[in-house]
This record gives sequence, C-alpha cells and structure tokens, in this order.
Amino acid sequence: MSDVIYKTDDLIASDIDTYLQTHQHKSLLRFITCGSVDDGKSTLIGRLLYDSKMIFEDQLASLEADSKKMGTQGQDIDFALLVDGLAAEREQGITIDVAYRFFATEKRKFIVADTPGHEQYTRNMVTGASTADLAVILIDARKGVLVQTRRHSYLAHLIGIRNIVLAVNKMDLIDYDQAQYDAIVADYTAFARSIGITEFTAMPISGFKGDNITTLSPNMPWYMGKPLIEHLETVELDVTAAQGQPFRMAVQWVNRPNLDFRGFSGQIATGTLKSGDAIRVLPSGKTSTISRIVTQDGDLAEAVAGQSVTLCFADEVDCSRGDVISIADNPPQVANQFEATVVWMADEPMIPGRAYWLKLGTQLVSATVQAPKYQVNVNTMEHLAAKTFDLNAIGVAEIATDKPIVFEPYADNHALGGFILIDKITNGTVAAGMLNFSLRRAQNVHWQTVDITRDMHANLKNQKPAVLWFTGLSGSGKSTIANLVEKKLHHMNRHTFLLDGDNVRHGLNKDLGFAEADRIENIRRVGEVAKLMTEAGLIVITAFISPFRAEREMVRAMVPDGEFIEIFVDTPLADAEARDVKGLYKKARSGQLKNFTGIDSPYEAPANPEIRIDTTTMTPDAAADLIVERLLG
Ligand code: ADX
Repeated sequence: MSDVIYKTDDLIASDIDTYLQTHQHKSLLRFITCGSVDDGKSTLIGRLLYDSKMIFEDQLASLEADSKKMGTQGQDIDFALLVDGLAAEREQGITIDVAYRFFATEKRKFIVADTPGHEQYTRNMVTGASTADLAVILIDARKGVLVQTRRHSYLAHLIGIRNIVLAVNKMDLIDYDQAQYDAIVADYTAFARSIGITEFTAMPISGFKGDNITTLSPNMPWYMGKPLIEHLETVELDVTAAQGQPFRMAVQWVNRPNLDFRGFSGQIATGTLKSGDAIRVLPSGKTSTISRIVTQDGDLAEAVAGQSVTLCFADEVDCSRGDVISIADNPPQVANQFEATVVWMADEPMIPGRAYWLKLGTQLVSATVQAPKYQVNVNTMEHLAAKTFDLNAIGVAEIATDKPIVFEPYADNHALGGFILIDKITNGTVAAGMLNFSLRRAQNVHWQTVDITRDMHANLKNQKPAVLWFTGLSGSGKSTIANLVEKKLHHMNRHTFLLDGDNVRHGLNKDLGFAEADRIENIRRVGEVAKLMTEAGLIVITAFISPFRAEREMVRAMVPDGEFIEIFVDTPLADAEARDVKGLYKKARSGQLKNFTGIDSPYEAPANPEIRIDTTTMTPDAAADLIVERLLG
C-alpha cells in the first residue's frame, strides 16, 4: 500500500513524480475529506481508490480475505480496512500529519488529503485544506448534522474552499429514504447560511455499497444530481477561477545569467498577462511594460495563473525576490498593520508582542501579534475573550510587520493573503493565518523625510553610535558595571545615555509588571528608545534583565549591523541570591513575590554575546575597562 499513501514529507518523492507524469495531460483536483471513521470516511476513500483501480490485485485479494474474517458478507468489501490499517500506525507521534492519496480517472487526477477529524487535529485539517479546491463533508445519514459537521464546515469555509460537497453517507442504512435526506440537507442549509457558505452541493451516497459514487444509483431514482466522481471530475478548479482575477505574480528569484538578460521568475498566482502589458512592481510602485514572457518551452504571447514563467521588462526597474509584479492599473495593497485570523499550531502558546517571522509567499518580514481580539469556539462559532492562542486555537488579532508588505485580503486572493508565522529561535512554524484587511491607521501614518540624518548627528559628536545592551539576572551587577562604563566614557568626552531597568519602570514603563507579556513590552519600548537615541548619535547603555532571547534579538535587528553589543553579565544564581541587595530573592523564595527571574520565571542566557563578563573572576572596574576597550578599541 505504500504505493498510494504519502505523508506530507514524502510529497516530493520521485515515485509521485512518475505517477503524476503518467497522468500529466490531465487537470488536477485537490480535495479534502472531512468526517470521522464513524461517518464512513475511510470506506469512502477506499471506495474511490478501488473504483479508480488504484488498488492492486494482490491487495484486493487480501482485502477480500480480511473482510470475510471480519464477517462482511458476499460482494461487499470493507474498504475501511484498507485505509484504517495504515491509519493506526500513522497516528503514533502525529505532528502535522496529513496523509495524501492519489488516484485518477479518465478525465482528471486527484490528490485527496485525509486528515483526522477530532478537534485536537484542527491544525492538521487546516494544513490539508490550505491547498484544496474542494471539501467533502461527510455526514452519517442516521445521525444528521453534528457538532463536528459544523466544525469541519466552518474550517473549510475559513480556509476559503469554494466547493463544498455535503455527502450524506450510509443511505443504505436508512433504506434510501428521501424524506430523511431532505431533512438533513435543510438542516445543513440553515447552518451553512449562518456562517456565510452561500453554495454547496448535497448528494446522498453509500460508500460501502457504492451508491452514487461512480454511477447514479437505482436505489435513489429521486436524486437528480451527479454521482460523486462525476462531480469531482467536472467541478471548476481554483486555478481556472484564478485566471479571471487581476494579474499578480510574486518574484521567486531574479534570473540574470549574463549582462544581456534580466528576468523575474515565479508562478503566476492570479490573472492573465500578455506581452506588452503595463505592469507595476510592488511595494516600490515602479511601472514598466512586459517585453518577453519566457518559459522552458520558448516565449509566450500570453500566460495565465498556475504557469511558471520568467518575465522581462522593457525598462531597468528595480525588482527583487519578495516583490510582487501586478497589472499596472489594478495593483494589490501595501501595508504594515492588519487584522488577521490566526490558527495556532504550536504546543507553545502565542506570546502577544513577541516578534515572529511572517512568511507570505516569497515575502519574509518580522511581525508581532497583539493580544487576541477574540477566539472562536470552533464547535459553536461563538466569540470568546482570550489572552493568547493555545494549540489549535482559532481567533482574530492585529498584526504589525516591521516593513510594509504587498497583500490582498485572503478572501480575494489566497496567494497574497495567506501567511505562516515562524518562531525566530526554533525556526518551527507556529501558526497559519489569513489577512482580513489592513488597518487604516497604518495607511495614514507616513514616514516624514528629515534632512539631518543619523550620520550627521553622530559626526557632530565625533563618535559612532552603539547600544551596549547589558543582560543578566537581577542582582548580577548589570547596573553597577553599566554605571562605571558610562562614567569612563563620559570622561573620554563621549556622549552617552544610560537607561536602567529600575529607573525606566518608574516612568515610561510604570504601567508594566513582570508577566511575560509585560517584560516583552518593556524591552520593546526600551529598544525603540535606544534606537531613537542612536539616531541622535548617542552611545546608549541599557541595564535590563531582558530575560528572553527573542526580544534581545528583536532589538538587535532594530539598529544597523554591528551597533548592538550584547553584554552578558554572567553571575551564578546562587551568587546573585546570596548578595540579594534589594531583598527580592528572599521575598520570591517565600512566595511573596511572583514571576521572579531565576526563581519562577525563566532566564534565557545569550548563546553568543559580543561580551561575556564572568563576575566570579572579574571586578566591576575590570569589566568596565574591558567593555570600553572593546567599544573604542
Ligand atoms: S525585565 O525582565 O523586564 O527586563 P527589568 O530589568 O526591567 O526586568 O526590571 C528588573 C528589576 O525589577 C529587578 O532588578 C528588580 O529590582 C525588580 N523586580 C521586581 N519584581 C521583579 C520580578 N518579579 N522579577 C524580576 N525583577 C523584579
């Protein structure tokens, strides 16, 4: 069976290539089946594979033998055995596990994503659904619309699947009764409308008996629609629909083999482009015209969504990886603040205010997510208050990126509205999301050009700006050493400014406490202030515990390369606690003070600080000399 089952990781396997090449001339429909084993999902998938001859003779023989053992009568083969036998082994150690199966008919080839149905597998379903043209929502005819039918429909609609098939299965078990079928469809229609699904196709089937799968069933002469396979063979593909939209292509790479040729390669996301069309490059907004559309098989006069092409411009216009080429008179938007719907996929909860990488197509930027506006109960669609998103949570939050990105609302364009969030330290994908719209305040706040630049400020002071970022436990000696460094620099006529944790928390940050989110906001604000001060030409010295690696890296990224100098004041916890200058460790140990760094709140030591001060072997004065030497040396 390994011939037809692939996990996500295996999708590039060469045997799939071979298979797809055999059916190369056929169009491809990707779909997802939603439902649980109880609804007959495995049986239906087994049936589709069987009817399209994707089960090989020897497997069929053993399947027949197994079905007999299980007591299934006569001609009916229990197709569930085919799929479930593999599911059991697969489901151990699920991460984001989606099984993809391939089959083909005379008219089309298919990839079906089979994801587990339970709520704890929401992220799997979202992963499988993200590339699907169609969703088959399975219902057990004896049970009707259930909580999980609603959840699956909501997710399929959220991900923007346009074609929804309501497959009312196990019709054989209700004697092919039209009245019961009609009641289920009416029930589902009311629900679908309430969540914004305007269209779906309902069909009564039996995966087990094969009714209305490949041919119309004589058992249900009252059904006027198509059998399932025929519907799958004829439904409009997303790529066909995308051809009718305005032209957009994200640049994957700049193709410049020699000085005579410069082309921009990528896959056309939407629309149609002709040689000679006027285009616009985003985010810069520069325009040009298309001089050539180059492909492996020669130049084209016209190219459409889904094709991979290299575009040449008539003028020398700046364009690089991550830029988006659009038709000139109808470009997508550019913005840096959004409302987004987020599906959290990591075991670690979302941390409001933390910077993650946001990847949207070929664009990669740093982004922070604000505290959720609300979370959605995926079973009832209720909006709930939430402070964060946990694994499998779905909700709405505002997102700010550090640079403007080219986008369109996900509802209009999946390629320019769908994104993932990546943890900067572990590099793992933590969320998938959909941009709903940009926030007006982002559109209306512009950068004012100033004539006196940061270099001019620094030159007047005759120095190079820098941020000396001290980090370490409370009581490690950060403030003491930072103070000495500032005194030494001051005596050398350097223009400095010291920002100290305890002091800043009396003013600018007096609204912040010591919960994780507060500490992140504390460091973000201090980072912004330090950045402004370097722009004024100063050498900024900061002394904050700054316990999290991610935020220290965020500040590093705010200033030009080389200006951020991380100084790790490395004092063993036992030493800091023994000194306990402010008596806070004692309070923390006795439980009077919560979230104390090193006691019940973590400290993430820098892996590669520019300077490490080992306070067990070095006096504060020697440490300060070393730092000044490194800075000016
Ligand atoms: S940070 O974690 O957000 O970077 P910051 O450096 O501003 O902390 O403030 C740390 C100082 O606040 C400590 O040196 C200590 O004097 C005081 N403090 C009060 N409560 C706590 C706490 N729960 N954890 C750490 N420091 C605390």
